[in-house]
Amino acid sequence: MSRPKLAPLLALLALGLILVPGALAGNGGIAPPDSATANGSDINELYWIVIGITAAVFLVVESALVWFLVRFRRRPGTAFDEDGPQIHGNTRLELLWTAVPLLILVAIMVVTIVKVPSVEAKPGPGDDPLVVRVEAHQFYWEYHYPNGVVAVDRLRVPVDRPVQLVLVSVDVAHSWWVPALTGKRDAIPGRTNRLNFTARRTGTFRGQCAEFCGVQHAVMRTRVDVVPAAELDAWLAEQARAQAAGTSGLGRETWEGVCAKCHGLDGSGDIGPQIAGNAQLTDATGLAQLLADGKDSSQVSGYMPPVSEGWPERQFQALFDYLAGNLSTAPAQQGG
Ligand code: CUA
Repeated sequence: MSRPKLAPLLALLALGLILVPGALAGNGGIAPPDSATANGSDINELYWIVIGITAAVFLVVESALVWFLVRFRRRPGTAFDEDGPQIHGNTRLELLWTAVPLLILVAIMVVTIVKVPSVEAKPGPGDDPLVVRVEAHQFYWEYHYPNGVVAVDRLRVPVDRPVQLVLVSVDVAHSWWVPALTGKRDAIPGRTNRLNFTARRTGTFRGQCAEFCGVQHAVMRTRVDVVPAAELDAWLAEQARAQAAGTSGLGRETWEGVCAKCHGLDGSGDIGPQIAGNAQLTDATGLAQLLADGKDSSQVSGYMPPVSEGWPERQFQALFDYLAGNLSTAPAQQGG
């Protein structure tokens, strides 16, 4: 009897050794980003447990497959159409391959159920979370702080203090996801979802709407700045004052986060038409109406979402002032 050839097995092993470090290397591979929150780390832990089990199953199945290919290959001198032995039934084997997957799935289920409370991270009685209302819009995130301050696409939260996002949508389903903080949570019209986390370190974390929500879904990004609590309090107080006085950067932030994504940063048009220099920008009543209603034309290209739903009055005013100062004339024609 001839021994199975080792070369193919060794080649497979070598291939595995070459691929594994690449797969494990940071975000270029299968590893999720390091999480800045405890519940994000819990999710990563679950991920590694499941990956570990499935990798073991994969190795066992693929090794057996390769082994059988070699061991039971057609030998020289055997007829091409000769059948192997016909085997029917093996009670012990059948019980095993039913019970083992069942036990694996039950184990994954138990570990997951045990982890759910810490992943949910619901604030307890003494936790005093910062509650931020997150309104998802086509195609931006509007953040409402408890003191009335609003922000577009950029969320500031305190380090080491629980944060609870209260997620709603005014139009279609979106999903708030900042992978280095915690898991994603959908913002669904007619529903209120909550997402809890406590950031353990300061820094800037970036995220992206994770639910296809329309033509500009790809630019529906967000940024989260985790800052010391005192810095956040100072910023909130200063913003409350500046937004009330009309001297904040809210107009520019609204232009960039809400309008410019479709009309271009300089208003010269992108997926939406050019609006710089348009007389409607200086007509407060007409503009407010347009932003509140949007445009739903029968032409595909004529659609504009009703972007201003839920805005406080001062946000419209801030945008209006910004437009008057920056978009009142059409951009110069590009040379060339
Ligand atoms: Cu919002 Cu995708």
